[in-house]
Amino acid sequence: MTFNSSSVPTSADRAPRRLIITGGAGFIGSNFVHYWCQKYPSDRVVVLDALTYAGNLNNLAALENHPSFRFVKGDICDRATVDALLRDESIDTIVHFAAESHVDRSILGPAAFVHTNVVGTFTLLEAFRQHWQSHGQPSYYRFHHISTDEVYGSLGPDDPGFSETTPYMPNSPYSASKAGSDHLVRAYHHTYGLPTLMTNCSNNYGPYHFPEKLIPLMCINILMGKPLPVYGDGQNIRDWLYVGDHCSAVDTVIHRGTPGETYNIGGNNEVKNIDLVHMLCDLMDELAPELPVRPARKLITFVKDRPGHDRRYAIDATKIRTELGWTPAETVAGGLRRTVEWYLANRDWWQPLLSEEYQAYYRQVYA
Ligand code: NAD
Ligand code: DAU
Repeated sequence: MTFNSSSVPTSADRAPRRLIITGGAGFIGSNFVHYWCQKYPSDRVVVLDALTYAGNLNNLAALENHPSFRFVKGDICDRATVDALLRDESIDTIVHFAAESHVDRSILGPAAFVHTNVVGTFTLLEAFRQHWQSHGQPSYYRFHHISTDEVYGSLGPDDPGFSETTPYMPNSPYSASKAGSDHLVRAYHHTYGLPTLMTNCSNNYGPYHFPEKLIPLMCINILMGKPLPVYGDGQNIRDWLYVGDHCSAVDTVIHRGTPGETYNIGGNNEVKNIDLVHMLCDLMDELAPELPVRPARKLITFVKDRPGHDRRYAIDATKIRTELGWTPAETVAGGLRRTVEWYLANRDWWQPLLSEEYQAYYRQVYA
């Protein structure tokens, strides 16, 4: 994997950090762990992940023998586990990815979203606050909270992209739970001076993306000759961010961001869902000679809309670009090609994820 790292320091420019990365066995978290261990090999990296349906140790298999990497199976809501790790590993930095992340699942069952995303974030903040205070409130400690553009609600066709001052207006149980966690992070900085950072990013895509999400779902269904379920009229817009670009943005914010601040991260790649699905179909036609149905566009099926489906997301990334010097490196055409190639080359990774449990979920959403 290659990453856009032009705007961040090298390992030699800084003292080693000791990090907990929550949710490091999930999609973005595992990409970030690979990025970080490659870039900062002297840092201690402890992944704390409960291995829910979305967590996958295979994502981290290549790091098994990395001398400064450790995996801990545990729940961010379990205060005793978090306290012990902070103490025993002398942690100075938390990068918090762990969450229930899928909007459709939040509509089917919101309770887990409130628990993990709100109570879990609170548990980490409270444990980290006490740890930081007991060490004399070092200024270099960081609590980096990973959030989403979905907290801002939905845009009209001519609205400017979400900026850091856009009012919160979450529409799904998922985005409401992320908004709740964001408010707690903000309050911990405002009240206690905890050195927090927050990033709100747009839709990620790339390697290790769980099959339930739009891009891997379409790739896998095309390979299996199954219908491609496009919600509603397919005109909803998302701003696609290659996951490697997201990793370099978080790196930039950890090293250059001002504590207490929020930075929005976008891919500068707004695409209508139906256009994205067309691009995936055409890439599959080109790259996968053995497709059961071709052209793959024949599989497109418009299905009932997601309840409360946000129409458009777009990010105004002026702040991170002008204040911290970060811009995304990947175009949607280039990133989608890399992603399709990865799913074609890594069938052993995704095939086991299509479990009976996953099929039951699929039948419920696409009934
Ligand atoms: P994911 O669902 O792929 O991974 C989530 C990870 O968190 C999994 O490994 C899971 O096992 C772990 N986890 C869940 N509950 C846990 C708990 N209670 N304790 C410990 N670990 C737990 O998610 P993702 O897509 O990689 O998203 C990561 C973060 O980025 C989330 O906070 C999400 O809200 C945010 N985000 C994602 C996107 C996106 O496009 N995927 C965009 C914006 C923001
Ligand atoms: O915007 C950031 C968010 O992006 C993150 O906070 C979430 O964690 C992440 O899951 C993602 O949310 P979305 O709901 O935008 O992603 P998803 O891949 O589920 O859907 C992308 C778009 O595609 C959305 O408009 C719904 C549509 N869709 C999705 C699926 C799964 C379909 O049309 N058909 C589908 O089968």
